[in-house]
Amino acid sequence: MKLVFLGAPGAGKGTQAAEMAKRFDLEHASTGDIFRRAVAGGSELGATVKSYLDGGRLVPDELTARVVGRMVLEEEPDFILDGFPRTLPQARLLEEMLNARGEELDGVIYFELGHEDAMVRLTGRVVCGGCGRNYHVKFMPPAEEGVCDRCGDELIVRSDSSREVVERRLREYEEKTEPLVGYYTRAGLLKTVDATRSPAEVSGATEELIKSLMNDE
Ligand code: AP5
Ligand code: MG
Ligand code: ZN
Repeated sequence: MKLVFLGAPGAGKGTQAAEMAKRFDLEHASTGDIFRRAVAGGSELGATVKSYLDGGRLVPDELTARVVGRMVLEEEPDFILDGFPRTLPQARLLEEMLNARGEELDGVIYFELGHEDAMVRLTGRVVCGGCGRNYHVKFMPPAEEGVCDRCGDELIVRSDSSREVVERRLREYEEKTEPLVGYYTRAGLLKTVDATRSPAEVSGATEELIKSLMNDE
């Protein structure tokens, strides 16, 4: 099963991809997480992408596609791509890379959420510094404030969570990523989930969609 999770920053792609990867035994591949790990690890890739992440701007297409090709497509037969592709050129590069291997996407799940909601979610998000699990101070709080339920590590605020940077990310999304909704609709691959609902309801709807895609295979 080869899936793409599409949606605005804050739509819940990462939250749902983590759940669905576990539920269906798929690799959860988040370009955002790959880039953040590279920055934290001080690699050459990290040095190149840091200013883009901090400013809320997209990393150049060629570089992003190369990273996905090498770290995901060559390594994993079944995956959820969370946060890639994010531009039309990236979508075409993905298609080329898959076609070259005689493969194709099974579906694109689009998490639909308005910008106001996205803003509230992103400015209240905290992330575990250890295992990477997502929380929200109001909507998905941990049992003990500031501490990860799963691994006990400290919860931190991502460096791109200020109102100003979130606004930039939402603009980048509108300009460069939203056209993919039409692109994947025309390709007959798009399935839409109403992402305004509770995490459990969104998970339920997503799970049903993935099951129906598996039956189509
Ligand atoms: P990335 O890490 O992908 O960030 P993003 O798209 O901005 O998405 P987020 O992770 O912010 O949101 P999400 O949809 O995963 O939501 P989440 O589950 O966390 O990318 C970061 C940067 O890397 C980019 O800005 C760019 O620089 C670079 N980059 C990455 N990919 C790239 C690419 N392909 N090309 C170029 N550059 C790239 O949920 C958000 C919050 O809401 C959480 O607090 C969560 O607890 C809460 N929440 C989740 N679901 C619900 C719900 N149903 N109800 C209430 N609260 C909820
Ligand atoms: Mg994410
Ligand atoms: Zn943790």
